[in-house]
Amino acid sequence: MATISFENRVAIVTGAGGGIGRTHALEIARRGGKVVVNDLGGDVGGRGGSGIMAERVVEEIRAAGGTAIANGDSVASSEGAGSLVAAALDAFGRIDVLINNAGIMRNAYLEDISDQDWDDVIATHLTGSFKVTRAVWPHMKAQRYGRIVFTASSAGLFGTPILANYAAAKAGVAGLMNVAAIEGEAHGILCNGIMPNAEGRMADRMMADLGADASSGSVELPPEIGNSMDPGFNAPLAIFLASEACTSTHALYSQCLGRVARVFVGVTTGWQGQRQTPASVEEIAEHWAEIGDTSRGFTTPSTPHHELALVLSQGNAA
Ligand code: NAI
Repeated sequence: MATISFENRVAIVTGAGGGIGRTHALEIARRGGKVVVNDLGGDVGGRGGSGIMAERVVEEIRAAGGTAIANGDSVASSEGAGSLVAAALDAFGRIDVLINNAGIMRNAYLEDISDQDWDDVIATHLTGSFKVTRAVWPHMKAQRYGRIVFTASSAGLFGTPILANYAAAKAGVAGLMNVAAIEGEAHGILCNGIMPNAEGRMADRMMADLGADASSGSVELPPEIGNSMDPGFNAPLAIFLASEACTSTHALYSQCLGRVARVFVGVTTGWQGQRQTPASVEEIAEHWAEIGDTSRGFTTPSTPHHELALVLSQGNAA
């Protein structure tokens, strides 16, 4: 198997001052890539900030013989995203890889989420991913090469109590990835998403806030998980998606306890009504089991037009 190298490649990893992002940055640098280690350096709720977290990771990379610079801009503002991209270009002259990883958590039951906590969480994960992606886009387009990895979450794609703001942002990140992938493909910009799992301050915050919530399904993880909740278990998938070796685009992948798998939106075969008049409400009730039945197969449309074509190919209306 050929070694996957990042020689002559420049990567921005947002939120790389700790946790999962740090391991992404270390792995790219270890493989010869030049890395911009971005981190605002605040607490898990995004409050406060200092350059120390990013600088420490840069020191770690340099001590191992790698090349990196620290950056303390916030991904959540257009100015911050612009300044981050400018810093990468000033230092290294190009940008080949963006890993949108920065994130914060402000947990509460839906009815208790303040406007501020909703806005700040969306601004960091979703708007931040958009703003940095928008800022790197013209550079990747001009060089006809780019790899962008978006960080979604099972909390958003599957659902978890007390994370409505976070989950909405993360599901939004998956939607953003879908469109970036479609728009980027013709320009050599491949976009995919990851759904990581790791212990760390964010997971600790979530477990503490969930507390005894019976609906959370939260359990003590058994010893069989080994070290697989170490943040570094997420780096190989992200770094493969960020590499030249990856030719896939427009997909989401989960890393969970060392298992790597694709996550997709599936549509059941469903029930086909008439195409001249809408179904009655009673017909929907009558066919409800059929509509939800996953055992008769499913399709995985990649665009709205693809879904139309798939439905037409499923056969004639009743
Ligand atoms: P973490 O809190 O250790 O890392 C997030 C980093 O983002 C922090 O270092 C923080 O300072 C930085 N950051 C926050 N706001 C920023 C901003 N505006 N600009 C720049 N940097 C900013 O958390 P962890 O666990 O490493 O999570 C990394 C990513 O993975 C996050 O996007 C998180 O939502 C996602 N994720 C994590 C999971 C887990 O199990 N830990 C599960 C699913 C997704």
